[in-house]
Amino acid sequence: MRVVLGLLLLLLGPCGSGAQGEDGGPGEVGEINTFLEAGPRDEGDEQTEQTTKQTTPDIWAEVRAVRDMVVELQVELRNMEARVKYSEGQVNQLKTELIVTKVHVEQLQRETSVQEIRLTAIESKTRDLEEENADLQTRLSSSESRIDQLERKNAEKPKVAFYTALTEAGNVGPYNTDITLKYSKVFTNIGNAYNPATGFFTAPVNGVYYLQFTVCGSKKLYMAVFLYKNNQRIMYNHKVKEGGELDYFTNSVVLELKAGDEIHLDLPSDHAVFDDRNNYSTFSGSLLFPL
Ligand SMILES: *[C@@H]1O[C@H](CO)[C@@H](O)[C@H](O)[C@H]1NC(C)=O
Repeated sequence: MRVVLGLLLLLLGPCGSGAQGEDGGPGEVGEINTFLEAGPRDEGDEQTEQTTKQTTPDIWAEVRAVRDMVVELQVELRNMEARVKYSEGQVNQLKTELIVTKVHVEQLQRETSVQEIRLTAIESKTRDLEEENADLQTRLSSSESRIDQLERKNAEKPKVAFYTALTEAGNVGPYNTDITLKYSKVFTNIGNAYNPATGFFTAPVNGVYYLQFTVCGSKKLYMAVFLYKNNQRIMYNHKVKEGGELDYFTNSVVLELKAGDEIHLDLPSDHAVFDDRNNYSTFSGSLLFPL
């Protein structure tokens, strides 16, 4: 048995290292085969030969079995080597893929951070715009309410305007006393502040009023008017006519009146004013603005 073990060690020893050499395995197996076919060559010792003869068949059978096993193991080893190589190749491929993936991931991370920066910028811009929008909304609604207020004020603002002419009847006057001129042709009378029955304009609200009159005279008559605010004379206009032609004068005033104040024109005694269908003599006025 010791011989068998020795042989085994002898065979397996080079076999283990034979895994590294390509041609090591089959070469050694060939040697064993030669050895097995040739049989033992040492025939010197009688006793040894005797012992050998008894044990030889068993040993050779075992050696053959071992040889077969070795051959089998070598084949298996080859397979495993091939598989290991294949696996290594795959591992290398996977490593390469991993590196590529890492590069890709890094690139994506960079892109993502760029996008994040952009997003942050957009978000802050959006917030700014929202604030601006809210501000504009506030200003818009305040403007709208201001407009409403102004529209209401404007609608509430009193409208006062009148325009009249004196008569169709030719000369008015001369008389012995002053008389109030009653402008009877009322063309415009917004707010009904002028009364043709009295010839008086009555201010409906406190405000600044613009008033104007044109006086026409005919023939060789003196032409003149007094302007009255309530019972107070505030203006006297007259003109001495020279020829037979019609003559005119026009004047106007801007007065601050209280509601209820009255304005009218008087014809002084011994004077005359002329009018017919041509509207030579007129009296008009309007509210510039309330106070
Ligand atoms: C007098 O004025 C009224 C109102 O403006 C007008 O309708 C009329 O034609 C005028 N008369 C003449 C002769 O222009």
